[in-house]
Parts: sequence; C-alpha cells; structure tokens
Amino acid sequence: MHDEAKIPAGVTPGEGTTPEGAQDERSAARAVQRMFDEIAPRYDLVNHTISMNIDRLWWRRTARTFTHILRRNDARVLDLCAGTGDLSVALRAVATAQGSSANIYALDFSHPMLQYGLQKYAARGIQPVEADALSLPLPDGSIELVVSAFGFRNLANYNAGLREIFRVLRPEGEVGILDFGEPGGLFGKAYGFYFRRILPRIGGLISGVRGPYDYLPASVGKFPPPQEMLSRMQDIGFRHVSWTPYTFGIAGLYRGRK
Ligand SMILES: C[S@@+](CC[C@H](N)C(=O)[O-])C[C@H]1O[C@@H](n2cnc3c(N)ncnc32)[C@H](O)[C@@H]1O
Repeated sequence: MHDEAKIPAGVTPGEGTTPEGAQDERSAARAVQRMFDEIAPRYDLVNHTISMNIDRLWWRRTARTFTHILRRNDARVLDLCAGTGDLSVALRAVATAQGSSANIYALDFSHPMLQYGLQKYAARGIQPVEADALSLPLPDGSIELVVSAFGFRNLANYNAGLREIFRVLRPEGEVGILDFGEPGGLFGKAYGFYFRRILPRIGGLISGVRGPYDYLPASVGKFPPPQEMLSRMQDIGFRHVSWTPYTFGIAGLYRGRK
C-alpha cells in the first residue's frame, strides 16, 4: 500500500500534519491540540526519558545560536509552539548570561501545556500567550526572533506557518526551527527501530496514552526533508536558509533571515 493511500480524504499531502482521522486542516489542528492537552501532565517526564535528556542539549544549542539577538535588551523573541517552555527557559538563560532582559513570549494553543509550564514562565519573566501559530496575535514586523522546537511539524499547514512567521518578523529578523530528522545509514536504521518501535511503547507506558507517541514517528515521516523545507522557506522569502544536523541528524535546526 502506498503512503498516500493512508492520508485521509480532504487532506492535501504535504500541506501539513495529518493525524489519524483528520479530514481537513481544521480537524488536523483540533486532533493535535487534543493530543497535547491529554499528555500535558506527563509531557516533560516523557520527553526527558525518551530522549535520554539529549533534548536539553538541543534546546541550549539552539538558544546559543541566537546569542547575537538575545543579548539585546530590546529584543522581542517568540517561542512558537512553546508547550511547557523548555526552549523559552534556554533562551532566557542565554539572554541573562549576556546581561540582557530580552522580552520572551511563549506561545501555544494548548492551555494545559502552557499551564504545566507556568512555574517556569513566572520564575523567569517569560510571557505565556495562548494562541494559534497559524493566526498570531502580533502586528507585522514586530519580532526580532521566532524560534520553535518540535512544534512546527505539528502545524496543519507548513507554508501558512512559515508565512505567519515571516509576517511577524521585522526586516533582518531571524527564524530557527528545531525538529526531528531521519538519519541515514546503519545508525539511522538502529535509531529508526528505536524511534518507531520502542519509543511509542515507553511514551505510552509513562503517559498512559499511546496515540500521541504513535503519532510522533508518523508525523516525522511525513515532514518535508531538509532540502524541501529549505526551498519552502526560500519560496516564502527567507534568505540565508540553512539546516544544521544535531546528534547525527536525529534532530536539526532550520534557520533563515527575513
Ligand atoms: C512537541 S510539543 C513541543 C513543545 C516545546 N516546544 C518543547 O520543545 O518541548 C508541540 C507543541 O506545539 C503546540 N502546537 C501545535 N500546533 C500548534 C498551533 N497551531 N498553534 C500553537 N501551538 C501549537 C502543541 O500544543 C504542543 O504544545
């Protein structure tokens, strides 16, 4: 059976994520929101367990990449699909180390995910914002840096997501999208076995819900590969686009400038 045959009717392949049962972009977004609402209480615990804490290194590395923006006191930084806030925390740590009090906004459409991050947000002067990444409550050209970790892949329409990021960035503003990749070679085979077979079981056991952890490898499999993501970014108008693999390509950072 071809992969396309499994994509539900009404969903254009490649437009965005397509969780099981989604009929269109609206129901895809609702399914994603429900999933994260459901796993919010155990999200941090499952994350650190299944990634063996490598996720912390990835957030820090991403944050450090944007030190040149975070060091500015007047910088406005948007953590898109922020969830429980670990990337926001890493961004704040870099800003603080630079003596900057940059404004950091942590945006997500799952109320429970933001709720479980509230302590982290409050302790670090990070502003949580409950909103949809495809309809940002921000004026054009108002943000210096948009970053997103493991969230962009869940959008119901990737081009619409990129367009919205482009719209809110000011000229010369930058974007950084951190997400999973699919490494090749022998390592890729071994990792693929872990990611598709073992991880969903561990995630299901700890969180008590299996669906979201079956969805994770499925959504990574459907996400555009690096070359395609980079050309989508260029088509939207981003310049200096690049992809940097992290940990043999298990994850990677897409960058671009408006
Ligand atoms: C895998 S979590 C990542 C959370 C966090 N960035 C991290 O690195 O742990 C994905 C997050 O994206 C959010 N999300 C997905 N689609 C969204 C949308 N359209 N608008 C806002 N948030 C969205 C989900 O609610 C979820 O909290």
